[in-house]
Amino acid sequence: MKKAEQIRVIKGLMAHLDADTNVDAGGQMRNPVESYTCAERAQREWQEFFQGYPQLLGLSVDLPEPGSFFTSEDLGKPILCTRDKEGQFRAFLNVCRHRGTVVEHERRGKKHLFSCPFHAWGYSAGGELIAVPKEAHFGQVDKSCHNLVALPAVERHGLLWVSAQPDGHFDIDDLLGELGPELAEWQLQDAEHKWETTYSTEMNWKLAIDTFGETYHFGALHKDTLAPVLYGNCQMYDTYNRNHRMVLCNRSIDLLRDLPQQQWHVLKAGLPVYYIFPNVQLIMGQGGPTMVRVYPRGANPHRSYSAITFYTHNGMQAAAWPVDTSEQTSGVQALDRAQGFASVIEAEDYWAAASSHKGALSGAQEYVLFGRNEPALHHYHNTYRQALQLPQLALET
Ligand code: FES
Ligand SMILES: [Fe+2]
Repeated sequence: MKKAEQIRVIKGLMAHLDADTNVDAGGQMRNPVESYTCAERAQREWQEFFQGYPQLLGLSVDLPEPGSFFTSEDLGKPILCTRDKEGQFRAFLNVCRHRGTVVEHERRGKKHLFSCPFHAWGYSAGGELIAVPKEAHFGQVDKSCHNLVALPAVERHGLLWVSAQPDGHFDIDDLLGELGPELAEWQLQDAEHKWETTYSTEMNWKLAIDTFGETYHFGALHKDTLAPVLYGNCQMYDTYNRNHRMVLCNRSIDLLRDLPQQQWHVLKAGLPVYYIFPNVQLIMGQGGPTMVRVYPRGANPHRSYSAITFYTHNGMQAAAWPVDTSEQTSGVQALDRAQGFASVIEAEDYWAAASSHKGALSGAQEYVLFGRNEPALHHYHNTYRQALQLPQLALET
């Protein structure tokens, strides 16, 4: 985030604190409960968002060197992401061209030969079929026609994007708009992968996204966990095409009031949370970024899971307050903080969201209400509705 923007955001947070105000969408919105329970809607979302729209699967540092790989089944099909010998990010359907077995079963690692467990056909990190055992017995194989099926893959601003469709195409710069240069400023390519976990929940995937869309709930749901370090019901909010950025307010913002603005940094004052359409939260913590990717279980509207990955980042640690002197100590502290934060997501946010799903199924009401202090929910729901050519939710002033 550029310095001038950081100062604007920090001043905005201070002004909200001083005046006891928050961002204001100008009115409320009613969101039909069927948005979370409708099977036909879930089917469209799965096709349009998770099959047809480019998906952020990781950070560049998930593939630190040639031969690095990770696998994913988040998009409903086996996918192998690699860095080839030229250092280029590649993605493939992780499917052997002999009899269709999944080739690579490890979650992540480094290999230069991906050997199918069934008959040991082997593929390079660039997807080329390079080994067919006993070819004289099997019969000759035109290797050039039996490479792994490539998927469109783009690396930009330290982020890795994939389309689940081999013939898909996308313009990531166009989709990110002004958010692209801002993400570049974080220098995510300097992060380091530390830890990952998955939470499966009986709720619609959008209820998981909704928990990240406001801080109105901090004083109640997080009163013993996050509220001691973050001011609830105080944030700055900006949109970038289909994406948005919330900056939550750290209580340590008060330490900046007596410091010259050159010494201000947004990580000392706040917690920037980027929502990247349709399903990713990228949270810029003091120790490093945390990526939360939320997925429905296919077209099932009642089940979802979140893949949470935590990275350390020395530059972000150095910018934050207080600065730890021991790199090792700060890395451990950062990991502790990230795991604590992730456990809050599971035990509090997702607990409440799963409870909302039960409420949605109960027939108690036809809609849920989004307040004027919850603009991210307004934007997110109307954005996704627009993407599905559904009528917009009205702002009720
Ligand atoms: S299915 Fe992969 S080698 Fe036979
Ligand atoms: Fe929360």
